[in-house]
This record gives sequence, structure tokens and C-alpha cells, in this order.
Amino acid sequence: MRTQIFLLAAAATLTYSTIKADNYVLSSENTSLIVAASKGGGEATYRYFGAKLTDAEARTLDYARAALGRSAYPTFGLNSVGEKAFMAEMPDGSLSLDPVVQDVERSTDKNGQLLIITYKDRVYPFQLRQYFKLYNQSDVFSTWTEYQNLGKKDIKLLRYYSANVPLPRGNNYATHFHGNWGAESQMQEHYVTNGETVLSNKQQLRNAFEVNPSMMVSFDGEPQENAGRVFGANLMWSGNFKMILHASNNSLTLLAGINDDGATYVLQPQEIFTTPELAMAYSTEGKGGVSRAFHRWALRHALMHGDKLRDILLNSWEGVYMNVNQPVMDQMMADIASLGGELFVMDDGWFGDKYPRNNDHTSLGDWMVNPRKLPEGIEGLIASSKKHSVKFGIWIEPEMANTQSELYDNHPDWILSEKDRPLRQGRGGTQVVLDLTNPKVQDFVFGVTDQLLSKHPEIAYIKWDNNADIMNYHSPYLPSNRQQELNVRYHQGLRSVLQRLREKYPDIVIQVCASGGGRANYGLLPFFDEFWTSDDTDAIQRLFIQWGDSHFYPAKAQASHVSASPNHQTRREVPLKFRFDVAMTGRLGMELQPKNMTDAEREFASRAITAYKDIRPVVQEGDQYRLVSPYLHGPITSLMYASQDKRHVAFFAFRPNFVYADLLPSVQLAGVDEHLMYKVRDLTPQNAKQPCSFNGKTISGRVLKQVGLRLDQVLNRPLTSVALELVAE
Ligand code: DGJ
Repeated sequence: MRTQIFLLAAAATLTYSTIKADNYVLSSENTSLIVAASKGGGEATYRYFGAKLTDAEARTLDYARAALGRSAYPTFGLNSVGEKAFMAEMPDGSLSLDPVVQDVERSTDKNGQLLIITYKDRVYPFQLRQYFKLYNQSDVFSTWTEYQNLGKKDIKLLRYYSANVPLPRGNNYATHFHGNWGAESQMQEHYVTNGETVLSNKQQLRNAFEVNPSMMVSFDGEPQENAGRVFGANLMWSGNFKMILHASNNSLTLLAGINDDGATYVLQPQEIFTTPELAMAYSTEGKGGVSRAFHRWALRHALMHGDKLRDILLNSWEGVYMNVNQPVMDQMMADIASLGGELFVMDDGWFGDKYPRNNDHTSLGDWMVNPRKLPEGIEGLIASSKKHSVKFGIWIEPEMANTQSELYDNHPDWILSEKDRPLRQGRGGTQVVLDLTNPKVQDFVFGVTDQLLSKHPEIAYIKWDNNADIMNYHSPYLPSNRQQELNVRYHQGLRSVLQRLREKYPDIVIQVCASGGGRANYGLLPFFDEFWTSDDTDAIQRLFIQWGDSHFYPAKAQASHVSASPNHQTRREVPLKFRFDVAMTGRLGMELQPKNMTDAEREFASRAITAYKDIRPVVQEGDQYRLVSPYLHGPITSLMYASQDKRHVAFFAFRPNFVYADLLPSVQLAGVDEHLMYKVRDLTPQNAKQPCSFNGKTISGRVLKQVGLRLDQVLNRPLTSVALELVAE
């Protein structure tokens, strides 16, 4: 990849009042962002975000009338009072801001190049800084803001979005992702009519549970996977958010930031407040191009340990639920080891002494081993893991308590609760949320993990769960005039715990989980290695959920487990091969009691795990191409991964639906190199001695890409699937 160029073009092409504005260009390998600003001028303007332009080319933008030329950060009050990116109340009640550019600087931070525009209000002691960043060796840019109160009295931030991005208006479509428990990240796609498309979460602690903080906008009609101009944006924030796509006859704007509903933030004298980054990418290669830009960026910059391959694991939850004990854990470790797995994770049910965790009514907060279930303690589990040569991981839900717990008995003031109202309680009728705005509670939450890891350095993996919303919207810690800051301060508190944790334990692998995929967001992924994609492990449901998540999140981050049949969530029966083939498109794991598998199933699982190891680098670190969408509800769905040099490919196709009359068009492999010849291997034949008809054949890249694979012989029954490895000869 070529080194990014940071160009400062002095072409004076835009005016604000009488002041000429200069163009500032940030260019990656494929994309340019151009902002115009000038010292002494007012709000900077977005001139361009699109395919890469040289500075000479950029100077001709005006002739094409292509420049967007709209405010890069419109503030409320002076020029107009419509929905703006920013609104604050000054100490005397003024609601307007009159920002004047003081400085435009170029700079770098640890992983990117920055353009920083500093404004001060013409009258009030208020400083606003707007940041634009280009991440090194990536096509992802970001933007955010920072405010400082330079006066002696409090200023109230009423709306403080991270970004206001003007986009080209035309035949636009929007793509976004919604869900609920068991059906996260369901893709929605629609034509953008005039008016507003608003994404805003209401789940308080789990912002991706109901809607992911991300959106793609297509400019050339219905979104395509590998063609057409597409913009994608993802807010790097774990708390409440809002994204508003505002369309009119001649303009299109994306506003994005922390949700401003009931979230006034009191900015004290000298205090600085920083908004979350909005990460953005643009591609001429359709939605797939935007996804691949995000995936590469995530592996390099935004996912913990993005450069490391993930272990194949067995998680105990669906296998034994809360019935954990030493002999069963030992047996499960022996089994996953014998199948070729590398890690065992003990899920919920292992803790609580005075209040033992046998169901979800008790014990959250009491992070001591239940001596009746695990008389040998964690030491016994680690001894088992050593005996069976697998790593050991453990489940915690450290941000929570049950009202039946020693933690609650001792610290009822550590719980989010309203003073004079009955306590609303969640899961199990007793679950409550700890007040992470309180530094003492932050110390406790950090301590939960710290004590486990310092006492047992052999623990290799933590599953960090979170199964509640904020129900009692009141922090006993915050003063009465700052209660509206609860959501923001909760997530700042969480972030500070995670920062401490990562400083002390940089190597531990941590999965973020929230009743499944409720925390799939880039606010948290810089601290976590992966997310639990969904509590729904039904392979058919997963085709949809993982497809949705893949728009912004790489396969390496998506925990994807083979569970029992019939499935525990849907009761659907799906063949083991199909379940494995689906799970192999993400970070493969298992979520069942292996003791209940037949010998034939074990033989198959062991072969599939060995095969996954061969394609693991391609799936986890290659470029993903979505080929046939499950959202078409056609007979098949298909996707592929290719190494960066395209010499190693993993191809998957599934037939969830089957009717004899179905048309089965060939699937073209968009991500292969047309100039190469590929040798094909069936990765997971049902019968090792009878691989599918493609096995052993050598096929030209051009044929694969232009003609495609005809799958009617292979996917010839309901719930059939195929996983192929293609290696360039
Ligand atoms: C919710 C998670 O999503 C599950 O995987 C499991 O860990 C349970 N919590 C345990 O209570």
C-alpha cells in the first residue's frame, strides 16, 4: 500500500464573508477528504469526500460544481435554528454560537494524520476544536469534536454531535442494521426520501442490541455489493447514540453523535469534553468495498489484537447452562481438546458462596468460586486445562449485581437507583446495574478482573457479559444537577476501567457480550478481541445476523459457534455440516455438550476443525466478498474470503431453502484473481471419502469470476452447504 499523502493545497477557492478559505486535503490510497477553512473565517466547509484526487484535480472541483461546500459543523442560533450539530446554553442563557477559526493545524498521533480546526466564539469564552483523521495504511477517516469552557461559569452542552457530513444527493439508498434478542443486526435497505431517517438506540447499555450505530449510504441507486459509490459511517461509542440522515431536494447530510435526548452535559470552567469519533469510508466498489475498508482498518487499528489469529473454543453455556462443576468442566476440556480445539470457556454458574449462582436470580457481584460446585477452585480448572492441553477462559458480568448478593447487601448505594421510587429489577427479577459513574465502583469492576487475573495468570480468556438496560435512571453518586450526564458518564467510566485493564493485561483475550450481540460497536472493540454475535446459534438465523454484522465488523470479531440440534433457540434441526460451514465463516467455536455427540459427529467435527485451521488466516484476516445475500430469500446464500494477494480463497454456499422449481444461477467469485488458476478442495465433505465434485479440480480465476460455480449438484437438498478452499497453483 502506498504511503498516504497529506496535502496542503493553497488554492483559494471559497469565500466566507470576505475571507478566502484554503483547501485542506487528506488522502489515503483510494479516498480524499477535502475541508476548506481559513483563519478569521467562520464554520469550515466540507468540500469533498470521495475517490482520491490529486491537489491539481481538487482545484477543478468547482468547475464540476461537485463541491459540497456546506458547513462542516453547523452550530445553532445565528445562521439558522434548524437541527444543527451543536447547541449550548451560555451562562446568560444565550443559545447561539458564533465560531471563528483561530487556527488550522496538521499533526499526527500514534496511528494517523490529523487536521485540527480550532474555533473560538466571537463573544463567549468557549473553544471548539474539530478533528479530521486519516488512519495510517487504511481507507478509513474519522471526525470528532472537542469543547473547552474557557470562562468562569458553567456552560450547558445541549447537543454535541460528533459530526455533520454533507453527502451527494441523488438516487440514494440507506442501509442500516436493527434487531432484538436472537435477531441482531438485521439489514434494512431503503430509498432515501426527503425527510429524516433516524437511528437511535433506546437500550441504554447495549447500543447495538436494537440498532447498530452505523449506516451506509449509496449514491447510484439500489446498493450493490461490488459496484457503485457507497459511503459508510460508524460511531465509535458504546452508549446512547443518534444518527440522522437528513434529505431534501438538493441536500443530504448525516448527523451523528451521542444521543442528546435528556443528556445535557454541564461543562465546568476549564473542563474539556471530547465526543466519540465517527469512522467513515467511501468506496467505488459498492458496499463490499466499504466493508473491506472497515475490516482492514479494524484489524490494524480498532479491534484488540487485530493482528492475532483467534483460538477455536468450546463455551459451556448451551452445553450445561449453570450446571457447572469440576468433573463436567474437566470432561468438556478433554472433549474439546480431542476434537482439535484450543480453548475452553466456563460460562455462567461458577460463582457465589452465601448466594450460590444456580439460576439468574442471585449472585452477580459475588465473584468468588462456589465451593460446592468447584471444591478445587479455579486452580482445579486450570489443572484440568493443563492436563488436557487447552487454554482456560471464564465468564463474568462485572457491571451488574443481583439484589440477592453480598455485593448488594454491603453496597446498596453502588446501584443505579431512584431514591424514593421502588427499584426496577431486570433479568431473574433481581438484576440491577452498578453505578459506573462512581470511581469506587469503577475500582470494584476493575478489581473483579484484576483479582481473577493476578491470582490466576493462566486464565487466557474472559467473556465479559452485560444483560441489562439502565432501568432506574439515577446515579446515587452524581449531584442532582448532573443526573442527565448519567449515560455519558457511565460509558466514560466503563472506558476508563477498560483502559486500566488493558494497561495491566495487554495480552488477555476478552469477548464482549450483551445478551448476545448488543455490544458490537467500535466504542468497545478497541478493548475487546471479539463479540458474541448473538445468543441465537441457529445456523439459518446466523446467516442473516452475520451477514448484517459483516458490513462493518470483520469475521475475526464475530464469535460463531456450532450448537446442538434441534437448536435451543428455534428448535430447528440443521445438519452438523451446515452448522459447521456457517460457523466457519466467522471465529469458529462450539457451544454444546460434546459428550452428547455420536462418534460420527465427533469424527466430522474433528475434520472440520482441522480444515478450519487451514483457512483460518484467510477467513480471519482476508478480504470478505459477500456474493449472494440471504436477504434475497432465494434458494442460496454465498460468501467468500481471499487473502490480500488473492492466492488463497475460502468459499461458502448454503441452501437454506429448497423447492425443485428454484432457479439456481451460478455464483461468481468476485474476489478471485482472474489471472490465476485455482486448485479446489472440499473442506468439509460429509463423508471423508466422498468429497463434492469440485474437489481436486483446477479452475481458472477468470472462469470463477466471470462464469462462476454452478452449485445445483452440490446443494441438491434442503439444508445443504459447501465449504471450499481454493489455492492458486
Ligand atoms: C447471556 C449470554 O449472551 C450467554 O451467552 C450466556 O453467557 C448467558 N448470558 C449467561 O448468563
